[in-house]
Amino acid sequence: MHGITIDQAMVSVPESPPQPLRAAILAWYDAHARRLPWRVSPAARAAGSRADPYRVWLSEVMLQQTTVAHATPYFVAFSRRWPTVEALAAADEAELMAAWAGLGYYARARNLIACARKVAGQLGGVFPDQEADLRALPGVGGYTAAAITAIAFDQPANVLDANIERVVARLFAVEAPLPAAKAELAQLAQGLVGPERPGDWAQALMDLGALVCTPAAPACERCPAAGACRARRLGPETYPRRSPKAARPRRHGAAFLLLNEDEVALVRRPPKGLLGGMLALPTSEWRARPWADAEAVAEAPAAADWRAAGEIDHVFTHFALTLRVFRAEGDWPEAIWTPLAGLEAMPSVFLKAARVGLLAQPQLL
Ligand code: ADE
Repeated sequence: MHGITIDQAMVSVPESPPQPLRAAILAWYDAHARRLPWRVSPAARAAGSRADPYRVWLSEVMLQQTTVAHATPYFVAFSRRWPTVEALAAADEAELMAAWAGLGYYARARNLIACARKVAGQLGGVFPDQEADLRALPGVGGYTAAAITAIAFDQPANVLDANIERVVARLFAVEAPLPAAKAELAQLAQGLVGPERPGDWAQALMDLGALVCTPAAPACERCPAAGACRARRLGPETYPRRSPKAARPRRHGAAFLLLNEDEVALVRRPPKGLLGGMLALPTSEWRARPWADAEAVAEAPAAADWRAAGEIDHVFTHFALTLRVFRAEGDWPEAIWTPLAGLEAMPSVFLKAARVGLLAQPQLL
């Protein structure tokens, strides 16, 4: 044996990319590609247009764990405000974090600045075109490096996002459940990568997954790969198989909306950790046990006539959070006093809590 595991040995990868399947999917992409603001259309690419690596990188970082619909307006705003990697490298960090608010996963925004500064500074403004060099940049992992290699530099790379995983799991009727099946899916996807049109290929699979091979009710009758799809007759919507999810734990906290005229008392969260570096409402500790109102108010940042205004729920990757919202008028010298219009610089969880605090009829405790 040459270090081959049983799992790998069980996968049958085509010797060379199956040309009819690739041709059918690329032809479908030529006719149905989504128009996306970071994308060079297949027609423009065929006519010689090339993608701007800066825009490809920016879009791929935004699209990590975020849908195209949600990320698109952010991409448009960022690329207008900071049209080059040099401009982004020179951005004010707090302004950039505020512009990122609502996209979530704030470590991505901190890495975005670090990466822009590295490329604009040490690399003379030029993004590397090799996957291994891209991976050395802050915030660029395996997926993002592969996507930039393929989409920005039109070099073959094995791009595997959730859409592509689903397409591949169905094409080959992969029975192993996610997340354990990732290595098998990567190997199968690699077998489909070829030297022609690598950028279009990656984006064709993404669009096929988004438009046709959808999680529920896939439109197999419109699928260019239906003839080759092993899951088609086995119930395509049941692939990819998934291991049962562990239940998400719930935490509880109190959030405090302290008003002074038309301004709200905010804090900046510590630079590291969840929502690090972001503007936020002050809160109590987030713990497993719910807070009684009187107990929560003892955690308030300033003594005031606190009233309960309601509750919000928010789901993070690893836990769900219930925040009970309290509201008062008062002063607090350490606050970052922020006008109402500035509240949008906060992550969604705090914006939700602020809305509840501002709109609800406060209840007497
Ligand atoms: N999801 C992640 N990257 C994408 C891209 N470049 N186009 C469409 N969807 C994507």
